[in-house]
Amino acid sequence: MRLDRLLSTLAVGSRSQVKELIRQGRVQVRETTAWDAAMEVVPGEVVWVNDVPLDTRVIRHVMMNKPAGVLTAARDSKQPTVLDLLPSLYQSCGCMPVGRLDKDTEGLLLFTSDGQAAHRLLSPKRLVPKVYQARVTGRLQPDAVAAFKCGLNLGDFVSMPATLHILDAQEESSLAEVTVCEGKFHQVKRMFSACGHEVLALKRLRFGGLQLDDTLAPGEWRELSDEEWNLLVKGVEDVAG
Ligand code: URA
Repeated sequence: MRLDRLLSTLAVGSRSQVKELIRQGRVQVRETTAWDAAMEVVPGEVVWVNDVPLDTRVIRHVMMNKPAGVLTAARDSKQPTVLDLLPSLYQSCGCMPVGRLDKDTEGLLLFTSDGQAAHRLLSPKRLVPKVYQARVTGRLQPDAVAAFKCGLNLGDFVSMPATLHILDAQEESSLAEVTVCEGKFHQVKRMFSACGHEVLALKRLRFGGLQLDDTLAPGEWRELSDEEWNLLVKGVEDVAG
């Protein structure tokens, strides 16, 4: 990749701003000053800008504890989006949310700049399990567990078998953990609704082999380690065979 393109992808500045930095001799590559903006560099190799080493990885993966009230979208003219919660570096590297959570849903949301991997993670063929914790109206009964397991008729489709664990059932409301392998629009809310319960709060705890880091407060995020990412992607490939 050209040096000026790499630096602008890493949000060091616009293409013309990074060209100016290079012209002023403020960029070093392989321990020498780089004077040529068109010089070829490999993302990941060490580049210094203004005497500070720059992390030049362009493929990045992030987990966020999505807060309620924020849209899963790249941008919106009126409402805050999950990308607004990340530094501009991630947007300029091309990080996009892997799937979506409803505006009022919290919890584990992944971002990656690896579009092909995102596609595989979202493929309906891969049956990636997603685990949610749901607070719903009314007392959940064992017949809901059986209905989730059988598949529910949701009008335009019948849901695939899902696992429902009732954690606490009270007259007013109940708490449950749900595992689904599909990701249709309002999937979990519609499944509960088909059993006569309204979802009051929904939080995603797990996506495939990746668990939400419980040290992340709502709105906080961190990059995934290579180990976490490889485990996630390998798990999905193993499922597909
Ligand atoms: N199912 C839903 O109903 N909403 C979500 O945000 C995710 C799964």
